[in-house]
Amino acid sequence: MQTSWEYRFANRTNRMASSVIRELLKLTEQPDIISFGGGLPAPEVFPVKQFQAACNYVLEHEASQALQYSSTDGYLPLRKMIAERTARYAVEVSPDNILITSGSQQALDFIGRVFINQGDHIIVESPTYLGALQAWNAYGAQYLCVRSDENGMVTDELERALRIGPKFIYVLPNFQNPTGTTLSLERRKQLVELADRYGVPIVEDDPYGQLRFEGDHLPSLVSLDGELRGDDGCYTGNVIYLSTFSKLLAPGIRLAWVIAPEQVIRKLIQAKQAADLNTAAFNQMTAYEVSKDGFLDEHVKHIRSVYHERRDVMLEIMEEMFPSECHWTHPQGGMFLWGILPEYMDAADVLKIAIERKVAFVPGQSFHPDNSGKNTMRLNFSYSNPETIREGITRLGLLLKELVAKNGNK
Ligand SMILES: Cc1ncc(COP(=O)(O)O)c(C=O)c1O
Repeated sequence: MQTSWEYRFANRTNRMASSVIRELLKLTEQPDIISFGGGLPAPEVFPVKQFQAACNYVLEHEASQALQYSSTDGYLPLRKMIAERTARYAVEVSPDNILITSGSQQALDFIGRVFINQGDHIIVESPTYLGALQAWNAYGAQYLCVRSDENGMVTDELERALRIGPKFIYVLPNFQNPTGTTLSLERRKQLVELADRYGVPIVEDDPYGQLRFEGDHLPSLVSLDGELRGDDGCYTGNVIYLSTFSKLLAPGIRLAWVIAPEQVIRKLIQAKQAADLNTAAFNQMTAYEVSKDGFLDEHVKHIRSVYHERRDVMLEIMEEMFPSECHWTHPQGGMFLWGILPEYMDAADVLKIAIERKVAFVPGQSFHPDNSGKNTMRLNFSYSNPETIREGITRLGLLLKELVAKNGNK
């Protein structure tokens, strides 16, 4: 007898449905479409030669370790290197505060597995990173949305949500995905203080923090929290910090890290043991070989300059081509900017016509857990080269002008 699969799937899969938007975005994968939809780094900045050399080195000198199972917490030299870098731009931590994961996406899933009971409330910015919502929906999370503006989460409105008793606060302080906005210093301090006062953890997701090409670096939440506690060398605070090599080296190596108090790391290690035993040792060792001796710092400078130029081109053409009824953010780093269309427009409808004109973006509604934001869009500026950005934004601008004119004629 043929199994009826739909009756066999676990209840937790009910909220895993793939969205209409994802179906639409599949259409944008055709080669003649200029897509600002994906969240992809520029392939031109992948350090291919360095990876080639590192792979050769690892296979020649360390193959028996690199091709073997390895420890769940991660390759120690890599964790030491991350600890040293973290001390430079954030907080002093020990390698025991660090877990290497197969991408930050895996870390988000583990956080769901370790912390979220069915019906637990999570405070999120609205809009927020879709991948986190997808990870946590499966664990039955409910979301308490806090509004965000051009300075990130409006922390003045946080206390109302904190009184409901959330499990944790999820926030992306730097060049947020999807909006590109950055949480101001004042709000960072307020957030850390409020979290401390209510005893609520913060999950700080920071894939883009090192990709700042304008303005001054702002202290991360984990560092502000560390200061508050006066930690010395080993982090014991309220923040679980995530970052990734996806945007610094290449997403194909699926390598990221979590910084958290040791007690939390131990629990996450248990989750990881059940999921995949360990992050690929070969990838960790090659990434370490590529990054060491200052290469990563130099490489990050290069990425910043490439993305800076691409953001400038996108902003310049938007200024020139988009109708005055549209507004958008001016990110100081990262990979995305956020467009706000007139309220009468539905970005999903705009996307359907845009695809016919061979240009694409992500409609913003799916980034809002409360389903608001119909008239918003996320544009990625890191993937396409300047010439393609010019052409794609021109196409989009012409379409938006047509739609505004049509509405005026109604
Ligand atoms: C905010 C945020 N968190 C996590 C991730 C997942 O990154 P990774 O490639 O390390 O899984 C992304 C990827 O775009 C992201 O934007």
